[in-house]
Amino acid sequence: MKVDGQHRRSLWPSARGDALYVIDQRQLPHTLAIARLDRLDQVRSAIAEMWVRGAPLIGATAAYGIALQCRQAADDAALRAAQSSLDSARPTAVNLAWATRRMVDALLPLALAQRAAAAWELADAIAEEDVAINAAIGRHGLALLQALAARSPGGTLNVLTHCNAGWLATVDWGTALAPVYLAQASGLAVHVWVDETRPRNQGASLTAWELGQQGVAHTVIADNTGGHLMQRGQVDLVIVGADRVTARGDVCNKIGTYLKALAARDNGLPFYVAMPFSTLDLGLSDGLAEIPIEHRSARELTHVSGRDGAGQHTEVQVVPDGSPALNPAFDVTPARLVSGLITERGVLVADEAVLRGAASG
Ligand code: MRU
Repeated sequence: MKVDGQHRRSLWPSARGDALYVIDQRQLPHTLAIARLDRLDQVRSAIAEMWVRGAPLIGATAAYGIALQCRQAADDAALRAAQSSLDSARPTAVNLAWATRRMVDALLPLALAQRAAAAWELADAIAEEDVAINAAIGRHGLALLQALAARSPGGTLNVLTHCNAGWLATVDWGTALAPVYLAQASGLAVHVWVDETRPRNQGASLTAWELGQQGVAHTVIADNTGGHLMQRGQVDLVIVGADRVTARGDVCNKIGTYLKALAARDNGLPFYVAMPFSTLDLGLSDGLAEIPIEHRSARELTHVSGRDGAGQHTEVQVVPDGSPALNPAFDVTPARLVSGLITERGVLVADEAVLRGAASG
C-alpha cells in the first residue's frame, strides 16, 4: 500500500539477503522509522516488543528470523532453538508457530550447506504468498461489501473495525482492510469507524494512519462508542482480523473484539472475520478453553504514549500510583456470533465441517 504516495510493504529483505528491514510500528503515526534486523535475537525482540505486530506479519517476520539464524548456524539444534525462541515471543497468534514450523520442516531434510539459501528463499515465498492471500481475501470481501451497498444505492457504506488488521499487520493489503481498499478502488463510497483499541491504540495510531495514507474516509472512535453507533443505524457491518481461529470457528482477536460481536448481534448487523488459512488452528476446538491468551505488561494500561505539543514523543501515567492493572491482549468470540470468515478460499461459515473441508480441499 502507499505511504506519501509511494508503494511500501511492512517488511522487505536487504538486496544482499543478509538482513530484514521492518517498519518500527511503535513510532507510528508520527514517525516512519525503518529498522534493520541482522540477527535472530533482534527479530525475536522486534516481535515481542511489537515493532512488528499483527498475526500474518509476525509469521513472515519469524520466517526471516529463521533465515537469519541459518547464516550463523544451521544445524538441527540451532534450528530447533531458533524455532522455540521465536514461538515464545508471542503466544496467541498461531501464524508465528505456523511459519517457524514450515521453515524448520522444510530445512531439516536438507544438507547443511543448502540450508541458508533455501531458508531465505522460503521466507521470501512466505512473504509473497501473504500478499497474494490478502489480495484474495480482499476480493472475496469486496463482493460482500458490494452486496451490502446495493441495498442502499447512492449511500455510504459504514464499516466498523477493531485494532489494526490492515497492511501494517500483514506484508501488504491487510486482511480486514483489504476489502475496504478494493472497495475504494472500485468507486464504492466507504467510510470506516476505527476503534481506538486500548491499551496500545493500534486503531488510533495504525489503522487511522494507513487509511489516511490511502485516502479512505474514516473516523476514530473510543472503544466504547461502537454499540451506540450501531443502535443509531450508523454502522452497516463489522470486519475484524484474527489471531487464531479454532476448528469450530471460535475467533481469537484483539481484546474488545467480543464486545463488538455482541453489539453487532444485538443490532442485527453482520460481524465478519477476515483471516488467511494460516490463522486456522485445526488442533483446537473450544477457543475459550484452549487458546493461550497473551497477558502483557500492566504499563501498557497505566501509561499512554504519544506526541506532545512540542512534537516530542512522550509517555504519561493515567492510573493512580499503586493501582493494579490487568492487561489480557486478546479475547475469544464464539463461532455463533460470527456471520462469516472471509478467507483466501472464499467466505466460509464458522463451522467445523466447513472449515475442515476447506482446509483439506
Ligand atoms: O497485538 P497485535 O497488535 O499484534 O494484535 C493484532 C490483532 O489483533 C489483529 O486483529 C490480528 O493479528 C489480525 S492482523 C491481520
